[in-house]
Amino acid sequence: MKQYLEVNEWSIVENGFHREHNKISESVFSLGNGRFGQRANFEEDFTGETMLGNYIAGVYYPDKTRVGWWKNGYPEYFAKVLNATNWIGIKIEIEGENFDLEHCEVSNFRRELNMREGFLARSFNAKLKNGKEVKVSTLRFCSIVNDDLGAIRYAITPINFSGTVKFTPYLDGDIKNQDANYDEKFWEQISKETGEGNAYITLKTKKTGFEVCTGMHFHLTQNSIPVNASIQPIEREKFVANEVVVNGKQNEETVLYKYAANVSSLNYSSTDLVSACKKAIAVAVEKGFDQLLKEQADAWVAKWDESDIVIEGDAAAQQGIRFNIFQLNQTYTGEDERLNIGPKGFTGEKYGGSTYWDTEAYCVPFYLATADQRVARNLLLYRYKQLDRAIENAEKLGFKDGAALYPMVTMNGEECHNEWEITFEEIHRNGAIAYAIYDYIRYTGDEAYLAEAGAEVLTGIARFWSQRVNWSEARHKYVMLGVTGPNEYENNVNNNWYTNYIASWCMEYASYALKYVSEHAPDTYNALISKINFTPKEAEKWEHIIDNMYFPEDKELGVFLQQDGYMDKEQILVQDLPASDRPLNQKWSWDRILRSCFIKQADVLQGLFFFEDRFDTETLRRNFDFYEPRTVHESSLSPCVHAILAAKLGDEKRAYEFYLRTSRLDLDDYNNDTEDGCHTTSMAGTWMAVVQGFGGMRVKDGQMYFAPFIPGKWASFSFKVGFRGALLKIKAHKAGVTIQNQSDKAVTLFVYGQEYTVAAGSEVEVKKTEVHA
Ligand code: BGC
Repeated sequence: MKQYLEVNEWSIVENGFHREHNKISESVFSLGNGRFGQRANFEEDFTGETMLGNYIAGVYYPDKTRVGWWKNGYPEYFAKVLNATNWIGIKIEIEGENFDLEHCEVSNFRRELNMREGFLARSFNAKLKNGKEVKVSTLRFCSIVNDDLGAIRYAITPINFSGTVKFTPYLDGDIKNQDANYDEKFWEQISKETGEGNAYITLKTKKTGFEVCTGMHFHLTQNSIPVNASIQPIEREKFVANEVVVNGKQNEETVLYKYAANVSSLNYSSTDLVSACKKAIAVAVEKGFDQLLKEQADAWVAKWDESDIVIEGDAAAQQGIRFNIFQLNQTYTGEDERLNIGPKGFTGEKYGGSTYWDTEAYCVPFYLATADQRVARNLLLYRYKQLDRAIENAEKLGFKDGAALYPMVTMNGEECHNEWEITFEEIHRNGAIAYAIYDYIRYTGDEAYLAEAGAEVLTGIARFWSQRVNWSEARHKYVMLGVTGPNEYENNVNNNWYTNYIASWCMEYASYALKYVSEHAPDTYNALISKINFTPKEAEKWEHIIDNMYFPEDKELGVFLQQDGYMDKEQILVQDLPASDRPLNQKWSWDRILRSCFIKQADVLQGLFFFEDRFDTETLRRNFDFYEPRTVHESSLSPCVHAILAAKLGDEKRAYEFYLRTSRLDLDDYNNDTEDGCHTTSMAGTWMAVVQGFGGMRVKDGQMYFAPFIPGKWASFSFKVGFRGALLKIKAHKAGVTIQNQSDKAVTLFVYGQEYTVAAGSEVEVKKTEVHA
């Protein structure tokens, strides 16, 4: 854990240059707008620890799989979101010396990610080796108003001299992914051009053929007056720039404004790319930096109005949740149903920027409550459109008759993951995709989705499970062998309780879905069953499996067993591990981890979280008390689930601890891996920890339930949720709960089990005294 960032409710602030943590800061201070995203790399050269990153949504490269020992069924490639042309670069030479912070004495360094208005600012003084001192202040943003655009203001003031400052604003497409499997560059140059004050470069990805044109325009001012200096265009392979030398006067600021655009063939035809890029830049130049910045701030303020969570009395907790919401909104806007949410968003290369079960299990609830219903629906449709590929994927592994296995990692529906214990065995992901359909319909009431797409996806998934289990003569039950549960610290286990449970539930829900469609949309049903060759016999088989599925448990302890044989393991608790052994995945051999009882992330507890209504509170408590002390939370997806369960069980202290851990995971680098990028998908889990955990929000039978409690340190907290056309603001404070209905539709809901109707545009106050203790 590292705590070098300042606590501030609306900003992330680094005071003093923490070179040793620069890659962490580059992740944390990242900017994005749903269309592209940029790590917080410096504009000027930096030869210290850095990982360059400009990522463009949906633009990927199929990097040929590299494994030590090939196994049949492995995918051919891993789809990577690419590091694209560096659009922020401004090379600077001061009196002939290259300006590189790694070789300067740096003072008064301050970096700020202003979340309220959506920009990144940096200021510092630097003394170069030649003795020249300058003061620098920069500001940049990725526009959420025009998501092709980014803009930079770079100001430099000579402190102890007057002399030449050479600026070379550039676009560099000669870049690499650090995680390239064969040290290969993924881009080819298509075209480039430079003029005085502008430059454009178009690159094409090898194999996938995506084209991206990146363009820039710049101008300079001194004392707010445009500088007239001669501009030298520069071109080399995959690189375009302009060079300009100015006379910097002591104590006088020279400002370089750089406008850039990234446009891709995903959104424009390749013949129009350059002109689209020029147009975007022309609009930006016309508006000017200040106007663009103002529009950006206004747009972010409006976004916050929809999705902010306000915590009074605990600045660290407040900063944590805002950081999470900010990053989520920077990553995915729901505008484009071809896109999805990679575990690192636009903040790093790890995980390839592809789609995982994280989307369905963690992100869907966030978007359901904070965005238009269309956004969550788009996320579901993304999988519907990939159903054929999921069926092909299952076929490759030997399944048949329309069984669908969704990939562990994908970009276009094809499996990309290539570790056998995950690719072939971590099949629980199929369950989360079914669960998200259920979750969406439970929340929105849009049952029509079943006929449109849901029932078909659910049937494919149910078919997979029915083929994946086998009848055990010994147990007289159906068993599921050789799987990896959500806890990846144990592979190839038999009867992972979570997987068996969700598999059985999927078959149950698929039967329900088909019945629903047959009753409510008979024509669609008939067309569907003939399209997918479904016969009622299949549903009978599912029922037999559901009735006879084996679920491991320890009756004496009263807990479900994570898998067969879990109790054979030496039972030690996390609290008994020396701090120097953590995180286990960086300190222990894999073999030692596999044999230990330590759990990477919620597993049995993930199931109890999904299906809490099916279990009584004592069962939830016994399982929580058993598994929580054995869980190391080395996946970012874990603490939020534990926070929600702890809150449900009234364990306020632990709920708060897990909340802090999930919400500040990247800010405090809990798992020692933020330098690879932020844990974006788990940020939606943090939102759940507040809304479902502390707020107790649930949807049951088409109605909202709340049961808030306030962590001791907090004076109050509030959040907004959209629900079936209504917009509710819930504020929990020490004296009770205020429910404000900000829409024009009356809502009936339950607070602490009691029913209230909140008329359109009005508010209801529930006093603590009115509710049972
Ligand atoms: C977790 C998975 C998750 C993946 C991407 C892994 O560390 O164990 O559950 O899907 O990260 O976030």
